[in-house]
Amino acid sequence: MSTLFSPFQLQSLTLRNRIAIPPMCQYQAVDGLSNDWHWAHYAALGRGGAGLVIVEATAVAAEGRITPACLGLWQDAQIDGLARIAHAIKAGGAVPGIQLAHAGRKANANPPWLGDNQIAAEDPAAWTTLAPSALAYGHHLPRIPQAVTRQQISRIQADFVAAAKRALAAGFEWLELHFAHGYLAQSFLSVHSNRRTDDYGGDLAGRARFLLETLSAVRQVWPSHLPLTVRLGVIEYDDRDEETLQESIQVLQQLRQLGLDLVSVSVGFTIAETRIPWRPAFLAPVTARVRRETGLAVASAWGIDAAEDAERVVAEQQMDLVMIGRAHLANPHYPYRLAQQLGIPEPESLLPAPYAHWLTRYQGAARQP
Ligand SMILES: Cc1cc2nc3c(=O)[nH]c(=O)nc-3n(C[C@H](O)[C@H](O)[C@H](O)COP(=O)(O)O)c2cc1C
Repeated sequence: MSTLFSPFQLQSLTLRNRIAIPPMCQYQAVDGLSNDWHWAHYAALGRGGAGLVIVEATAVAAEGRITPACLGLWQDAQIDGLARIAHAIKAGGAVPGIQLAHAGRKANANPPWLGDNQIAAEDPAAWTTLAPSALAYGHHLPRIPQAVTRQQISRIQADFVAAAKRALAAGFEWLELHFAHGYLAQSFLSVHSNRRTDDYGGDLAGRARFLLETLSAVRQVWPSHLPLTVRLGVIEYDDRDEETLQESIQVLQQLRQLGLDLVSVSVGFTIAETRIPWRPAFLAPVTARVRRETGLAVASAWGIDAAEDAERVVAEQQMDLVMIGRAHLANPHYPYRLAQQLGIPEPESLLPAPYAHWLTRYQGAARQP
C-alpha cells in the first residue's frame, strides 16, 4: 500500500493523492494579467496526476511583484484569466490553489534568465520597494527599500484580503499566503530584516504581528470549509537556527489558533549568505519537527522527487503532502512516473484517457503507426 498515492483530506476537500505542485513563478505576465502561457502550463499540470496544483506567487499589490512579469490579483480585471486557469486545473482532477504574495524588498527585479538582478533605478520599469525597515537584501538586490508606514501596513493587509476575495471569485479552493522566502511577511518576522521600534518590530510578538493580523483578516473572508495555508521559512541555515525554529513553531501555533489549516514548511531566504545543505529531501527532518510540535498538517518541497524519497517522507509521517516542483516542469505527468516506479497498480489511471489508452495498448509490441 502506498501512502503517497492515498487520498488526503483537509476541510471539505479531498486530494486524490499526496503529491502537490508548489507555486513556481513563470514570469510571463504583462500588467499582472495571465495569458495563454499560464493557461496551457496550469491546464497540463492539472491533468498531470498531482492532487493539488498551486498557482505561482500572485501579487496582492503592483509594488509587491518580484518582477514586472509576475501575476497579480490587485484588480478585478485580473480575475477572469485566473478563473479559466482554476477551472482547467479542476477539470484535470486536481484541487486548484493559489499563492498570494507581496515581495517586499525583494521586489523590482528582472526574471532569473534576464539576470535576476535589480531593475536600475533610472529604468522607467523601476518602482520603490517597501519593507519593514530600510535595509537592502544585498547580493543581487542592493537597493535600499522604503520602511513601510503604519498606513501602508494596513493598506497591504487590506490588499491581501481583497486579493483573497478575488481568488475565491476565480474558483480557487486552496489559498496559500506567501510568508516565506524573504518576501514582505517573512522579512517582518526575521531579526535580520526587521529593525522597527514600533508594534511591528522588536520582540517576537512585534515581528509576528503582521503575519498574525494578515492571516486573521484573510480568514474572515476565506470560507471556513476551504483550506487556508501559509508557506513559512522556518530556518535560515545560519548561526541562530534553533532560535529561528522555536520562534517559527510558536508563531505557527498562534496562526493555528487563528484558523490556519496547513503550513508549507520552507527556508527563510532572508539573508543572502546561508549554508543551505542542498541534498535530496534536506528539509524533511525540520518539517517533521514542525509537524510534531505544532500539530498542524504540513507540506514541504526541496529535492523530494525520487520515488522512494517521496513515498518515505509521507509514510514516515514527516509530512502530509510532498511538494514536487521542478520535476513537474520537465514532465507534467511526473506522478505517472512515480506510480510506475513504486509499482502502483494501474498507474495509467493517472493519465487522461487519450494518453492512457495509447501508452498501455501496445506495451511490449512493436509501435504501430
Ligand atoms: C521556476 C521556479 C519558480 C518558483 N516560484 C516560486 C513561487 O512563486 N513561490 C514560492 O513559494 N516558491 C517558488 N519556487 C520554489 C518552489 O516552490 C520549490 O520550493 C522549489 O522548486 C524546490 O522544490 P523542487 O526541488 O521540487 O523543485 C520556485 C521555484 C522555481 C524552480
